Amino acid sequence: MSVTILEHDGVISTLTINRPDKLNALNRDVLEGVAAAVEACIAHGTRCLIVTGAGKAFVAGADIAAMATLSPAEAQEFSELGHRAGHAMETAPFPSIAAINGFALGGGCELAMACDFAYASTKAKLGQPETKLSVVPGFGGTQRLLRRVGSAMARELVYTGKMINAQEALRIGLVNAVFEPDELLAEARKTAEMICANGPLSVQACKRLVLEGADLPLPEANALEAKVFGECFATADQREGMAAFLEKRPANFKAE
Ligand code: COA
Repeated sequence: MSVTILEHDGVISTLTINRPDKLNALNRDVLEGVAAAVEACIAHGTRCLIVTGAGKAFVAGADIAAMATLSPAEAQEFSELGHRAGHAMETAPFPSIAAINGFALGGGCELAMACDFAYASTKAKLGQPETKLSVVPGFGGTQRLLRRVGSAMARELVYTGKMINAQEALRIGLVNAVFEPDELLAEARKTAEMICANGPLSVQACKRLVLEGADLPLPEANALEAKVFGECFATADQREGMAAFLEKRPANFKAE
């Protein structure tokens, strides 16, 4: 059985991390599987990807058994592999929703943060426990956490390594919503459907703007937005979207 399972349902795809007996811990195969899944989604024409875990965990971290005896150089290389997987997810030309069904610790929390946003089940537990192992988060945790929840909260979570529950994750903005476990995937799917009903090129452009704009000074980021806003008016879908509104009918977008 593959350690990553990718399923397509029209333009909505679901990636399930599948090592339930090891709480979906991220080893090389899983990390390579995540990056390969993003590539496969691009080839398929995915417009929204849901990422979840098999069994009781989302992902309980990088695989400690695989890391325990690494040399410094090997550990750096493993970290870089994790970064490549996160980067592939983060920069994919479609939004991704982490559906956190259970433990999202260490690399699991980092994978969730590489997605565009996250929903959690009431059973979710999140955290960056790496300092308990006397290492730092290695797959983007220190950086994405501070960008997502702010510097002070990120520092507290990383220094203490404590686990927080879904409600606390919601309160600090680490997840966008909390659902009962049996509703989590259906709710993620509903959101995916809302996204996929919109102009595909504009959703893609919004993602690019958020990503590229985040690290730019505001005037430059706003200038980039104005440029991309203008570019939308070179698309057939912009004509269609506005005509459909004026004619009081649903739009028929063609990604053109
Ligand atoms: N790496 C490798 N194996 C892991 C793992 C990880 N990050 N997290 C869990 N596992 C394995 C366990 O070793 C165990 O394997 P075994 O049955 O062969 O002994 C199996 O998954 C089940 O985990 P277990 O600890 O028995 O489950 P639990 O419900 O008692 O505890 C956790 C769950 C998440 C609290 C606990 O597994 C844990 O603390 N995991 C490590 C979290 C972590 O530090 N992540 C960051 C890594 S950098």
